Amino acid sequence: MRVVVGITGASGAIYGLRVLEELKKRKAEIHLIISKNAAFIIKGECGKDLEEVKRLADRFYENHDFSSPLASGSFKIDAMIVVPCSVKTLSAIANSYADTLISRSAINCLKEGRKLILVPRETPLDIVTIENLFKAKQAGAIILPAMPAFYHQPRDIDDLIDFVVGKILDQLGIEHNLFKRWME
Ligand SMILES: Cc1cc2nc3c(=O)[nH]c(=O)nc-3n(C[C@H](O)[C@H](O)[C@H](O)COP(=O)(O)O)c2cc1C
Repeated sequence: MRVVVGITGASGAIYGLRVLEELKKRKAEIHLIISKNAAFIIKGECGKDLEEVKRLADRFYENHDFSSPLASGSFKIDAMIVVPCSVKTLSAIANSYADTLISRSAINCLKEGRKLILVPRETPLDIVTIENLFKAKQAGAIILPAMPAFYHQPRDIDDLIDFVVGKILDQLGIEHNLFKRWME
């Protein structure tokens, strides 16, 4: 499975890192793009530097690198995940404003009819962001907000993170035991 992972500058960088770890375990071919603010937040929230994170991917691209294969819809991928997805990058994707490699690659998914999973993290939501979520959904994206549940009896932060990561893997059709399903 060839997957593009975009990590943008919303809080919750750990979701992106955990998705990378789970995809790597399953030997997915990972193409990674990290925005400038995401790199800053990864350091601040997770204490990791970029080089460490890059090692989880098969290929890494700068977010301004439009010479990369990901800039073209002709490069075949199975899915793209933007995790976490800032409201700024959501806006770019929803409005077809391809100013970064992350937004361009996501827009390619929409135009080519490929799976695009957006994991926004913001609260409260302004009306423009709600409109952008609506537009992105209408265009074919899967909107998977970073909203952990509590019915699986989480004991710590890792259990909350793994709930969201598990929901992302569900959308990719990947089997996992990251959380206990309701009534299982
Ligand atoms: C510490 C910090 C936390 C942030 N958290 C969020 C957030 O949770 N959600 C969000 O949409 N933007 C958040 N932002 C703002 C984005 O980083 C900012 O809008 C940036 O332009 C996003 O660009 P990018 O999507 O290219 O990474 C945060 C910024 C900082 C510095």
